[in-house]
Amino acid sequence: MFEEVDFNKTQKIIISNPSNKDYKKVMVTKALVKGETVLKHELLTKTQSFVKNYSFDNICEALEADMEFFKQAEIWTSDYYYAFKITSKGKVLSNKKKLNTLIEAKAINKEKNYIIKEGMIIPALIDLGVMTADGKIVKSHYDKYRQINKYLEMLDSTIGYEDHLNIVDFGCGKSYLTFVVYYYLVNIRHIDVNIIGLDLKSGVIDICNKIRDKYGYKNLSFINKDIANFDEFDHIDLIMTLLACDVATDFALYHAIRLKCKYILSVPCCQKEINKQLDRSSFNLMNKYGLLKERFSALLTDSIRANILEYYGYRVNVGEFVDFDASPKNVLIKGVKTDSGKNEAIKKELDETIKKYGIHQTLYDLCFGKEND
Ligand SMILES: C[S@@+](CC[C@H](N)C(=O)[O-])C[C@H]1O[C@@H](n2cnc3c(N)ncnc32)[C@H](O)[C@@H]1O
Repeated sequence: MFEEVDFNKTQKIIISNPSNKDYKKVMVTKALVKGETVLKHELLTKTQSFVKNYSFDNICEALEADMEFFKQAEIWTSDYYYAFKITSKGKVLSNKKKLNTLIEAKAINKEKNYIIKEGMIIPALIDLGVMTADGKIVKSHYDKYRQINKYLEMLDSTIGYEDHLNIVDFGCGKSYLTFVVYYYLVNIRHIDVNIIGLDLKSGVIDICNKIRDKYGYKNLSFINKDIANFDEFDHIDLIMTLLACDVATDFALYHAIRLKCKYILSVPCCQKEINKQLDRSSFNLMNKYGLLKERFSALLTDSIRANILEYYGYRVNVGEFVDFDASPKNVLIKGVKTDSGKNEAIKKELDETIKKYGIHQTLYDLCFGKEND
């Protein structure tokens, strides 16, 4: 049945649609065991999970055996996507699609290594004026295009193999990023997603919903709401913020913490909250210079945010995601939820910092209550 598949290039396999009602599905993913990459085969029944590791050479045999009990198989290799279906009459239907978009993007545009290369047509971006009808990037939108590609790279390297992701883009604005992430995850990564873009501006939200309707994008919605009042999902896998102004980022991070969101990719901007309060601090040496005070406030704000995430058991990484030349708003806070408990030593440092500067910081206040009243 799987003769044409090159299993040496396997990335992921999902076997579903069981003919035996006790079974649920089979997931095959790559895993590192004693320094060697193997294929981890996990059979999920209604009550149990059975794991066995296979080499790339003998996975095919195991899958053929699985198909005694299932009617559907999907296989992702590094260059093809294959779908197999067994009909009620026992006929095997198969479908193969070259996954050239990502690979070509990486090969042709090596220097930039963009995932979404010029020429790849994302219809929503044409409607939004970022792309021309033949996939060229409109010059005035080139910085945004580069920024979104960089963000996408971060996203791509952060998420693992996922079946389904509930995602919220807080402060989505015109939703260039939201549409690109939707396109990438659905069409290239073949992940089942449910994405919400949320913004205060009703005009842009209306436009985005119209574009969504025009192209029939399922499980994508745009909502006109303050981030603080978000209550659409009670489970989120990925929270995105790209330049959500000032404390909007704090409310988004708070939802992530509250809902134990697995992945956070947050690019803050306009960190004004602490800047407005810092006159009260004694750090006059720096604070008398407006620019330095502004930069210091932004760094202090993001340090507090990153440490709060660590306190709640996130593995946190703070890095530059575009060159400073391209935009000074180039800090990306990345958080991945781990099983570790609360880190009280970090909480102590946070408390001391908040006291020392005599400040309020919204994420801190949301998580721990107000200290400096
Ligand atoms: C600088 S724009 C960024 C838009 C988009 N993420 C991008 O990068 O193109 C910031 C967006 O956040 C939205 N925003 C700010 N505060 C918000 C809040 N409290 N709730 C919802 N949206 C908010 C603004 O309306 C604006 O559209």
